[in-house]
Amino acid sequence: MPLDAAGLRTAFSARPEGLVALAADVGGLREGMAASTFTPASLDPPLVSVCVARSSRTWPRLRASRGLGVSVLAEEHEQVARRLSARDGDRFAGTAVTTRSSGAVLIDGACAWFECAIEDELDAGDHLIALLAVLEVHHLPDARPLVFHRSSFTQLASPCPAPAPVAGLVGAADGHAGPPRDTGPARH
Ligand SMILES: Cc1cc2nc3c(=O)[nH]c(=O)nc-3n(C[C@H](O)[C@H](O)[C@H](O)COP(=O)(O)O)c2cc1C
Repeated sequence: MPLDAAGLRTAFSARPEGLVALAADVGGLREGMAASTFTPASLDPPLVSVCVARSSRTWPRLRASRGLGVSVLAEEHEQVARRLSARDGDRFAGTAVTTRSSGAVLIDGACAWFECAIEDELDAGDHLIALLAVLEVHHLPDARPLVFHRSSFTQLASPCPAPAPVAGLVGAADGHAGPPRDTGPARH
């Protein structure tokens, strides 16, 4: 496979990704875009990150807001994701949102939302990595996420096999799940 943009996109698309809406009210105008590069970064302090294309016309407007909403889109948000990634048209047409006093705009019915403030922007080639401080968090336990895989919107298989929680899972702040902890007597 060639090491060019097309080859990389194809290889990257092998990994299922969630979709988030990045959105804010900037001077009375709603701005937003869809992103699949959201990653939890740190538990203490609470930080998340997202990669933004340097070519984005929307990001310079979003970054002007004191607060930035990050909403993890749910299965029923496929059209919301399509509108938020369209080049033209009203990106919020028919979308129910909640606007916070910080300017963060959150998508109603999202699986989870994070009200954030931009902490830093790190260079990442033709993208930048926006490091976001999380100011508030909310989670809808029964909502199911929208998934983007192999360049298509899809959903988790339903019904899911019985969930198998990983004991001692620390989470993304450690970069990997690691082996389960405290799951049995220590072997020496
Ligand atoms: C499934 C999907 C995932 C996307 N993920 C990102 C992303 O992580 N970062 C990004 O900068 N743009 C991403 N985009 C593109 C933006 O949603 C949007 O199309 C882009 O910002 C162009 O609009 P703009 O010039 O107004 O910013 C994604 C688009 C789609 C359809």
